[in-house]
Amino acid sequence: MEVTEKDRYVIRGGNPLVGEVEIGGAKNAALAIVAAAIMTDETVTIENIPDVRDTNVMLEAMQSIGVNINRINRHTVEINGSMVKNVNIDTESIRRIRASYYLMGALLGKYKRAEVPLPGGCDIGSRPIDQHVKGFRALGADVVIEGGIVKAKAEKLTGAHIYMDVVTVGATINVMMAAAMAEGKTIIENAAKEPHVVDVANFLNSCGANVKGAGTDVIRISGVSRLKKCTYSVIPDQIEAGTFMYAAAVTKGDILIRNIIPKHLESISAKLTETGCEVQEFDDAVRVVASKRLKPTHIKTLPYPGYPTDMQPQAGVALALSEGTGTITESIFENRFRYVDELTRMGANIRVEGNTAFIEGVEKFTGARIKAPDLRAGAALVLAGLAAEGTTIIDNVYYIERGYEDFDKKLRRLGAEIRFTDAGEDMMKTKFKVVS
Ligand code: EPZ
Repeated sequence: MEVTEKDRYVIRGGNPLVGEVEIGGAKNAALAIVAAAIMTDETVTIENIPDVRDTNVMLEAMQSIGVNINRINRHTVEINGSMVKNVNIDTESIRRIRASYYLMGALLGKYKRAEVPLPGGCDIGSRPIDQHVKGFRALGADVVIEGGIVKAKAEKLTGAHIYMDVVTVGATINVMMAAAMAEGKTIIENAAKEPHVVDVANFLNSCGANVKGAGTDVIRISGVSRLKKCTYSVIPDQIEAGTFMYAAAVTKGDILIRNIIPKHLESISAKLTETGCEVQEFDDAVRVVASKRLKPTHIKTLPYPGYPTDMQPQAGVALALSEGTGTITESIFENRFRYVDELTRMGANIRVEGNTAFIEGVEKFTGARIKAPDLRAGAALVLAGLAAEGTTIIDNVYYIERGYEDFDKKLRRLGAEIRFTDAGEDMMKTKFKVVS
């Protein structure tokens, strides 16, 4: 079904979530990997791609420039980039997702030319691309931004020594992709170390690239002239897993979260343990049990292995229900507290000063009509609704469906009362009584 900005979830809160949930492939890794797949003329098979709006938009945009996309099943696609007919991508849909910028690195690496609109994505703060541009220029490309389009071209790309002024996931991956097909050696210093940076490097290496050091501060790339086919499975989604961990925490539930890499969740597990949850790690699963009221803690978002900015709103919801005062300092994006006003409507007591939220825990939230301001904040507000007394209606769930596959279905299987309604549906006919 086409989901519009007006579609909503109706949630009746209060049930502890109990059971098992299976985590899908990492959206932010998949977005970069499908883009990188066009760098070979051979057919690449990518497995474990999440079926979410952002990855689907990306695949559509790739199709619009002649990439052959063959969906084998819901989570597996074959990609063949040998028929790319144009390096200028400008569709309405590609302007709406941030990850369109990965087509710059992939096209520039392979064709030495790319024209891609400036990226959109969630409004979580100013999102410059100066480090991407700096990296491409260091490799020898001319880069200009004209009419909202980033235009990059080079006679040839030559390996270079690049120091990133900030730790950036997007620029690290983008420059790594272009450098994989440059002549000679590239060194990226102050590189991002996120799991998806490593996953993209592993994918490129499976295609015959020579990328070493991904997951550390320094990535060394020896360019190759050709990449070949491979079959590759995307890593599990760290943020989807973390969101379900917090679902257990805020509903006093007991959830076994399966198909994950526990190492990627360490900062989240540590914070949940500090708040009094029991976190058990298994080989490829983690169980979170919350039996009593949460304790407050202090969180600062940082690049990996620090606490992820994409898990900040979920932690905000948990702290807002804890017994005492906690703080959250957001150090990556300046506009990631937009969920606070919505949470206040549910009874939360939060004061934001600069990039820090001072959170005085309350005993309970009560249901209200609220709006998802962006993807992760939207998911966090769903958790708030699940923990609240009464009925919560969340508008604009479009954002949530950008990055969570079957979110409401997975929550229902854990015992949540959550249903999706389209904008035309009469709220009074829903099976829950609206009390806000
Ligand atoms: C990626 O965004 C993710 N998006 C974001 O996930 C995530 O929040 C973010 O990384 C941080 O982990 C995708 O992977 C598609 P950055 P990205 O470059 O690449 C500054 C979600 O909810 N910066 O690591 O845009 C920037 O302003 C989304 O799934 C520059 O100054 O993030 C920020 O302060 C939201 N110049 C910091 O670096 C640049 O050229 C980190 O940004 C690039 C970034």
